[in-house]
Amino acid sequence: MDTSDIRERALGAIGAAADAAALDQVRVEFLGKKGELTALLKSLGSLAPDERPAAGAAINATKEALSGAIDDKKRAIENEQLADELSADTVDITLPGRPRGVGSLHPVTQTLRRIEEILTVAGYEVVAGPEIEDDYHNFEALNIPAHHPARAMHDTLYLDNGLLLRTHTSPVQVRTMENREPPIRIICPGRVYRKDDVDATHSPMFHQVEGLVIDEGVSFADLKGTVVDFVRRFFEKDLGVRFRPSYFPFTEPSAEVDAQCVHCSGKGCRVCSGTGWLEVMGCGMVHPNVLAMSGIDPERYTGFAWGFGADRLATLYFGIDDMRNLFENELRFLGQFA
Ligand code: PHE
Repeated sequence: MDTSDIRERALGAIGAAADAAALDQVRVEFLGKKGELTALLKSLGSLAPDERPAAGAAINATKEALSGAIDDKKRAIENEQLADELSADTVDITLPGRPRGVGSLHPVTQTLRRIEEILTVAGYEVVAGPEIEDDYHNFEALNIPAHHPARAMHDTLYLDNGLLLRTHTSPVQVRTMENREPPIRIICPGRVYRKDDVDATHSPMFHQVEGLVIDEGVSFADLKGTVVDFVRRFFEKDLGVRFRPSYFPFTEPSAEVDAQCVHCSGKGCRVCSGTGWLEVMGCGMVHPNVLAMSGIDPERYTGFAWGFGADRLATLYFGIDDMRNLFENELRFLGQFA
């Protein structure tokens, strides 16, 4: 039997099939149940018995050849498709790369590190404590009993379990006094929380650094010397410093410290609202009640403490006029202070 006509037509159709669907159609047309070759096979019965083997062999050979051709074509179509997909996906390596910044320390982190460096050189040890505090360490032990009007100075964030977010880092000083014997010379840097609305000079979370020195014979003169020296080292300028009488429940006497304006050196400018002075910290001699409550003999020991907002010092040092800039995480802004 001559199958060369079918073979020719089928091979032509296979070659012309543009995609998998068209190829399958060709397969059905020739090799399917109702396909041409199948019909030929069925017709074998009508041949003379001695012609059947040769005819059968010819049909099967054609069938195999066509199956092989279809498989080859199928692979070719798949390869072509893959090549198309790959070339569509190609990365154009001639494009210039996107620069990746090296990253830098946040201005507040830089400021905290500078403060710690200045003060550890001066003999202070850095101590940390919990940000979630109890009422006793945040208030009571600092001579601020319940209903004391000074509590109004700290707009406190309370937790459901009766604890609170520390409103200052002074509780770390209390914990240190409870656990150590004088002489004590520590600084406590850390985050503190108050229910303040966000504006140019306020944030509900900010950073404080407080210092505490307790020993025999510590005086207000020691406090003044320490604070003046720190202010000048921090601002890297020989600024005037003044102490104004103030009130804190945990210190007596207490003072507010002003430094001459870092920007105009005291002449008066926008940063200091024309006054020539900037308020930089609070300080005082540790109240005898506070020493006694933490187990330190106020007859034998005296001490001083001071505290300030590190974020405020950072804005003054770097000349940032809005504290919100520190916490909005705009990398293009923060990167300027690298
Ligand atoms: N704890 C005070 C505050 O947060 C700051 C301070 C510390 C004042 C030590 C005096 C002495 O307001």
